[in-house]
Amino acid sequence: MSKPDPRASKSDRDVLDNLGALIGGQIKRGMSKLEEVISDGKKEHADSKFMGYVKVFMDDPAVAAVTPSSRYLVDRTVKAMNLAHAKVIVEYGAARGVMTRRILEKMRPDAKLIAIEFNTPLFEELKKISDPRMIPVHGDVREIEKILAKHGLTGADVIVSGVPFAFFSGRGRHELLTKTSALLNDGGRFVAYQVTTHLIPMLPDYFSKVDTQFEVRNMPPHFVFTALK
Ligand SMILES: C[S@@+](CC[C@H](N)C(=O)[O-])C[C@H]1O[C@@H](n2cnc3c(N)ncnc32)[C@H](O)[C@@H]1O
Repeated sequence: MSKPDPRASKSDRDVLDNLGALIGGQIKRGMSKLEEVISDGKKEHADSKFMGYVKVFMDDPAVAAVTPSSRYLVDRTVKAMNLAHAKVIVEYGAARGVMTRRILEKMRPDAKLIAIEFNTPLFEELKKISDPRMIPVHGDVREIEKILAKHGLTGADVIVSGVPFAFFSGRGRHELLTKTSALLNDGGRFVAYQVTTHLIPMLPDYFSKVDTQFEVRNMPPHFVFTALK
C-alpha cells in the first residue's frame, strides 16, 4: 500500500505532499505575530492556557492545530462517532483532551477509550483526566496495532483521528489507513477531523461508505470525514 494516488500527476503529488508543511508554516508565521502582539506589554491580558497551547503548537509541527478544537467541531465530530453501541473506542491525537472529555460524556459506562498522544507536554495534561474507562497512551498512532495488543485488544468499534494525515508521507498515509481499517470491527467507523483534503481520494479505497462535512467555526476550519467499514 505504498503507491501514491495514480490519478495525481507528479507535480500534483508534490503539492499534496507539501501541503501540510505549507499550511503549518503559514499558520505559524501568523501565530508568531499574534504572540508578539499579545505579549507586547500586555502580559497580564494574555490567556496563559491559550498561549501555552500556542507555544506547544509552535514547538512541534505535528500538533497542527493552533487551538484546541472548538465546541462546534467537538460536537460535530462526536456526533459522527455515533457512540451509542461502541464498546472499544480509539482516539488518535488526543492532545490535552478537549475531544476526549466529550467522548467520555457520550460513551457507554461499559465502554473503553484508548486515547493516544505523542507530544509530551500535551500528554501530561491528558493523563490528568480521571475516568476509569480511559487508558491514556503516550505513543505514536503509527504503532496502533502494538498499542492495542499491549492492552489485550484486537480491534475497535470507533476510531477518531485529529492526527493530521497531511503531515505523513503518501506511503505513511496509506500505512495508517491500512492498519486503521484492519483494526476496525465489522460495521465500525473511522472519523477524521482534518484541515486538508488528503483523505478524500483515499478513504473509498479502504471503506465502504464515506460522508464529508465541513466545520467553519474552528481555527482553522476542519473537514470531518466519516468512513464506515
Ligand atoms: C489537531 S491536534 C488534535 C487536538 C485535540 N484532539 C483537539 O481536539 O483539540 C492533533 C494532535 O495529534 C498529535 N499527533 C500528531 N501526530 C501523532 C502521532 N503520530 N501519534 C500520536 N499523536 C500524534 C499532535 O501532537 C496533536 O496533539
